[in-house]
Amino acid sequence: MTKVGVAGLGYWGPNLARNFDELGELAWICDQDAARLEQLSSRYPHAQATSDFAAMVADDGLDAVVIATPVPTHYQLAKQTLEAGKHVLVEKPPAMRAAEMDELVALARERNLVLMPGHLLLYHPGVQKLKELIDAGELGEVLCVYGNRQNLGIVRTNENALWSLGVHDLSVILYLLDEEPETALAHGRDFLTAGVEDVVFCYLRFPSGKIAHMHLSWLDPHKMRRMTVVGRDKMAVFDDMELERKVTIYDKAPWKRAETYGEWQTRSGDIFIPKIPTDEPLRLECEHFLRLVAGDGDREKVARDGAMVVRALERLTESLRG
Ligand SMILES: NC(=O)c1ccc[n+]([C@@H]2O[C@H](COP(=O)([O-])OP(=O)(O)OC[C@H]3O[C@@H](n4cnc5c(N)ncnc54)[C@H](O)[C@@H]3O)[C@@H](O)[C@H]2O)c1
Repeated sequence: MTKVGVAGLGYWGPNLARNFDELGELAWICDQDAARLEQLSSRYPHAQATSDFAAMVADDGLDAVVIATPVPTHYQLAKQTLEAGKHVLVEKPPAMRAAEMDELVALARERNLVLMPGHLLLYHPGVQKLKELIDAGELGEVLCVYGNRQNLGIVRTNENALWSLGVHDLSVILYLLDEEPETALAHGRDFLTAGVEDVVFCYLRFPSGKIAHMHLSWLDPHKMRRMTVVGRDKMAVFDDMELERKVTIYDKAPWKRAETYGEWQTRSGDIFIPKIPTDEPLRLECEHFLRLVAGDGDREKVARDGAMVVRALERLTESLRG
């Protein structure tokens, strides 16, 4: 059984600890905060507890480390883990700069280790459905994709809307289109905290001609968690606010009637609501990591996809500040 250590036991880390305790062997838990460590230690008495990350990765019996510490620490801790010869699942984004991410990807490849970013939404059965529809050609040629991630709050003061919210939609858009954007532009404003943009609009254009957009905001009357894909033949929407219709497929499209001299008409056909499994995306993410560690699947792909997200984030940040 894979022996896993989880570092960072704040808000998110305990969810990862729970899953790995159920799916593998939770061998270590680590947090610099003594109170958090003690609390989790009473829940998992069989796991060794430490505040010293280096002591955990030095354990020869440990196979993999899961990092759920604050974003600015990810690169350093992931690097330390890979250098110690352990596989790593690191919360998103694994690095704040593309050059650092490239270094992690190279290190993982060199040592044949898994470097998997925690892009939770990629494991959501609703996103998997969109991917399946696109890859099967169900929607026809994909023309554009746009994401809405808005709400009133939670107002962050140390991370802007692009880094806090955008990383989710960006990972989904790049996964769906499987292309590196040639243009990455962002506009936004810091209305509440100086230097921390609360509202961000992003535009991406891809070599194939497809375009994408993201509206990211915690200053909005609508709570939206939505991704829309417009194809030439059909259109599909993944809406994570919906309980029973997570994905809707619209058989709608413009078309040209020969007898009207090429004038555009529109067609509105059936609307389909496929059944989407209710499996917990985090459970699926953790299972995927353990499969990669066990040697199943393409371990280089998750690292490469993660690097594409960090590169796009870096370019969008430069555009936002430029
Ligand atoms: N995938 C998701 O949906 C999702 C949701 C929430 C958070 N996250 C990610 O999880 C990560 C943690 O977020 P959070 O909200 O749990 O933060 P948090 O501040 O609640 O918890 C972070 C914990 O890490 C500990 N820590 C900091 N430096 C450490 C170190 N060097 N060694 C050991 N422990 C250390 C802190 O003491 C704290 O307990 C972030 O990267 C965040 O982006 C992901």
